[in-house]
Amino acid sequence: MTATHPPLSSWQGRALVVGSGGIGAGLLRALSTRAPALELVATTRRQPPPGEEVRWLRLDVTCDTSLDRLGRELAQGPPLRLVINTVGLLHGPELQPEKRLAQLRRSALERSFAVNAFAPVLLAQALEAALSRQSPFHFASLSARVGSIGDNGLGGWYSYRAAKAAQNQLLRTLALEWRRRYPLACVSLLHPGTTATALSAPFQANVPAGSLFSPGRAAHHLLDVLEGLGPEQSGGFWAWNGERIPW
Ligand SMILES: NC(=O)c1ccc[n+]([C@@H]2O[C@H](COP(=O)([O-])OP(=O)(O)OC[C@H]3O[C@@H](n4cnc5c(N)ncnc54)[C@H](OP(=O)(O)O)[C@@H]3O)[C@@H](O)[C@H]2O)c1
Repeated sequence: MTATHPPLSSWQGRALVVGSGGIGAGLLRALSTRAPALELVATTRRQPPPGEEVRWLRLDVTCDTSLDRLGRELAQGPPLRLVINTVGLLHGPELQPEKRLAQLRRSALERSFAVNAFAPVLLAQALEAALSRQSPFHFASLSARVGSIGDNGLGGWYSYRAAKAAQNQLLRTLALEWRRRYPLACVSLLHPGTTATALSAPFQANVPAGSLFSPGRAAHHLLDVLEGLGPEQSGGFWAWNGERIPW
């Protein structure tokens, strides 16, 4: 990575944080201190939290109408300088990461792919009208190291792993298209490290002490990584410490 990119403190325009879970909320807090000139917009599918620093918009990433509405709302006003998608799904009612083949269900594969794989690239499509060919921007989406095929030495978690791997391929493909159409774009897939949020809560017991990040710390790591990237690194899969993760 080179250090020749403008520092976050100088970024201007709009930043969109998609999803208001643990890491999404941490990113909003971190951006408000590190990039004070950015106008913060965030999405949630719940009641937005109180406060005036952030403009909240409703979004369910699995709903095309909702994505279209977001795109139309953001096409008004200044172009996006930064988009970070933090929406993800690992477990929920009737959805548990599989330990073995016998636990695999079509419904779980479909739900995981809808949120973890299809949504990020459809989000990019919905937001194209809010991007500028003339100004630099980052489009980043949270992936996970377990989505790396080359790094998969443990097995299990079929749906989540496969959906994150599919996201990686879809956004890598997007990065190649945007290299021609938006030459100043930087598309990134980011692994935040294991972070203490609702998503990881049932799986934290075996995480070594010191390896479980707070959402705030994870957010600062992710911004550090983005700050060091530019269009020439578009299409990369990066860990929280800036190291490349194999596909
Ligand atoms: N935490 C970790 O250790 C870890 C490790 C590797 C990768 N990641 C990735 O990091 C990202 C952020 O995760 P997190 O730890 O911050 O988890 P989190 O706190 O559970 O946040 C995930 C967010 O996704 C939202 N979401 C799920 N389905 C949605 C939908 N259909 N439409 C709109 N929003 C939806 C959830 O909304 P609701 O609150 O409304 O349910 C929640 O706010 C995820 O992509 C995850 O895979 C996390």
